[in-house]
Amino acid sequence: MQLMILGPPGAGKGTVAQKLVARYGIPQLSTGDLLRAAVAEGTDLGKKAKSFMDAGELVPDEVVIGLIEERLKQEDCRNGFILDGFPRTIAQAEALEKITKLQVVINMKVSDHEVISRLSGRRICKKCGAIYHVENIPPKEEGKCDNDGAELIQRDDDKEEAVRNRLEVYRKQTAPLIEYYEKAGILRNVDGEAGVDKVTQEVADIVDSLSG
Ligand code: AP5
Repeated sequence: MQLMILGPPGAGKGTVAQKLVARYGIPQLSTGDLLRAAVAEGTDLGKKAKSFMDAGELVPDEVVIGLIEERLKQEDCRNGFILDGFPRTIAQAEALEKITKLQVVINMKVSDHEVISRLSGRRICKKCGAIYHVENIPPKEEGKCDNDGAELIQRDDDKEEAVRNRLEVYRKQTAPLIEYYEKAGILRNVDGEAGVDKVTQEVADIVDSLSG
């Protein structure tokens, strides 16, 4: 299954993608996670990306296209993948078409109000990247990851100023992909405001209907 999850920041793309990895055994390819790893490692690419990410701006197309192209060549992508946060511009979508073909694009619909509440309460595991929310999806022990006990941290770009800009950038640069994939006949809308289990089930039903 070659799946992509589309939606505004904080829609729950990463949360659903992590659930689908466990269910289907195919990898989650998140450009956000790949970029954050490059920043943490202090690579040249990470240094270049950091200022864009902290401001809530998109990293230049050529950087993320190169990153995802390399990732898609890896062995674990042979039976499919879940793209999370890529493509994010029409230019990225066109570049992806030259590399591989998507079967379905899930468009997670969530209001701005919900996005702001989700991002202000989000915490992620420093070690494994598991995603929590202080109220909606709390860890068993405050501040510690259920998987490995590592510290939970807040992302730098979850500060209010950056969140507002990320929403604006989404509207201008990423939302046009909804029409792009609608025209391609592969877009499926999902209500992202439901609970995590319901959203995951809805996406899984779509995937199963296409694979079966
Ligand atoms: P990226 O990491 O991709 O950020 P994003 O798209 O803004 O999405 P998020 O990770 O913030 O949200 P999400 O939808 O995954 O939500 P989550 O599951 O965490 O990108 C970061 C930056 O990297 C970009 O700004 C850009 O600079 C750069 N970048 C990345 N890709 C790029 C590209 N292709 N081109 C250029 N630049 C790129 O959930 C959010 C919160 O809500 C969590 O706390 C979670 O617990 C909670 N939650 C989730 N689902 C539910 C639910 N159903 N009910 C209640 N709470 C929920």
